[in-house]
Amino acid sequence: MRRPFIAGNWKMNLTLAECTALAKGLAAQVGKTAACDVAVCAPHVYLAATLAALKGSAVALGAQDVYHQANGAFTGETSVAMLQDIGCRYVVLGHSERRHILGETNQDVCRKVHAALAGGLTPIVCVGETLEQREAEQTTDVVWEQCLASLAGLSASQVAGLVVAYEPVWAIGTGKVATKEQAEQVHADLRTILATRYNPDTAEAVRIQYGGSVKPGNAAELLSQPNIDGALVGGASLKVESFMGILAAIS
Ligand code: 13P
Repeated sequence: MRRPFIAGNWKMNLTLAECTALAKGLAAQVGKTAACDVAVCAPHVYLAATLAALKGSAVALGAQDVYHQANGAFTGETSVAMLQDIGCRYVVLGHSERRHILGETNQDVCRKVHAALAGGLTPIVCVGETLEQREAEQTTDVVWEQCLASLAGLSASQVAGLVVAYEPVWAIGTGKVATKEQAEQVHADLRTILATRYNPDTAEAVRIQYGGSVKPGNAAELLSQPNIDGALVGGASLKVESFMGILAAIS
């Protein structure tokens, strides 16, 4: 049985005061136990303050990226050990904004996934097709390729412990949500390729989140699908009420 997992991706938003207030508000409303795993992925510079504000609650901390090298002359980058050191548990990797705006390749993502797992962080590995690819009926090929290439070289047990996020690029920040049938189909396809590449138990264990315009009003129908194990939430995670509204869809 996969435990649902709802994560907020705050992206490059909020001031320090806003991060702290949001984290405190979530901590107060979620409390010490939740019906699912919950995390917020804050901007790097606000991670420590966010963690302090979440203290004592069931809301875990995640980062939005990491570099694969352990240390050294990599100006501006952050290592897995640094994220561990300040209390991160998760790290989003291969988000489409990093793939498309910053030019990250599957190989870059794969190196980061290896480093994150080796350092004890749980990666949330993002995959998703563009509108053009969907219209050209390439969705399955694109997400299979991204998924397998981003996870290349991992053992089945490593794969079983990580999280995949299916985020169709055309649904991110656009208000256009995939229908529950569209999302469920891709999640089921991802599980099929994981079962083929690794084994059925591994495919059954991996949690696959949906991301792309998830809101309180559409969360319940998406999350009720058998292969949708949670959500990676952008815009609606920036307010306590809307993030709590999505969490309410779980119980
Ligand atoms: P939105 O929920 O704002 O569409 O963003 C989704 C996302 O990219 C989460 O990582």
